[in-house]
Amino acid sequence: MIKISPSVLTADFLTLAKDIEKLEAAGVDMLHLDVMDGEFVPNISFGNPIIKSIKEHTKLPLDVHLMIDRPHRYIDEFAKYADYLSFHYEAGSDNEVTLKRIRDLGVKSAIVIKPCTQPEEIFGLLPLCDMVLVMSVEPGFGGQKFMPSALDKLSKLQVEIKRQNLKVLLEVDGGINAETAPLAVKAGADVLVAGNYIFSADDMVKRVSEIKSL
Ligand code: DX5
Ligand code: ZN
Repeated sequence: MIKISPSVLTADFLTLAKDIEKLEAAGVDMLHLDVMDGEFVPNISFGNPIIKSIKEHTKLPLDVHLMIDRPHRYIDEFAKYADYLSFHYEAGSDNEVTLKRIRDLGVKSAIVIKPCTQPEEIFGLLPLCDMVLVMSVEPGFGGQKFMPSALDKLSKLQVEIKRQNLKVLLEVDGGINAETAPLAVKAGADVLVAGNYIFSADDMVKRVSEIKSL
């Protein structure tokens, strides 16, 4: 069954505790937390103090997406509260060393590719990954339009994961809604990140069950 990881990027942080309780009751699978440094992406979001508070408030696994330059510098810090910790292939770290470090710290490792990166570039890293995240928008902001080029990448990665006989979850992030979610699932996605589509809704629970029933 498809997993849902709501992104809190566009949530109202003053009512987040209540929203998380609603999402838990709605049966989401994890929470997606976007960390942005204003360098790797042209936006600044939040850091570990917020993630710590969220961790103390929920039993949901935390899916932490680092959009920061040279992420290896902060892996030990973010591994304290993350259940899945993902960082960008393009962000200037030694990707192999960084993926291994995440696993050594007892956290599920994930690498993320931007729209400009081809899936073949990460085939060699797949044995070190518990999850791969394919961006379907340029990282940095919520509420953007889904880029269909992500679909072919998901399919290629799914084939390669099978070929290498690995267990790696495929996650897609950006512009997921009722129209794009089925396309992503058909292309091989196991985990859908959805931000704006869930948090802009009057009835978040209904939105979650809509996606879940696809
Ligand atoms: C964008 C972030 C996303 C974002 C998705 O850089 O990585 O997780 O919150 O938001 P929507 O679902 O609104 O595109
Ligand atoms: Zn994200």
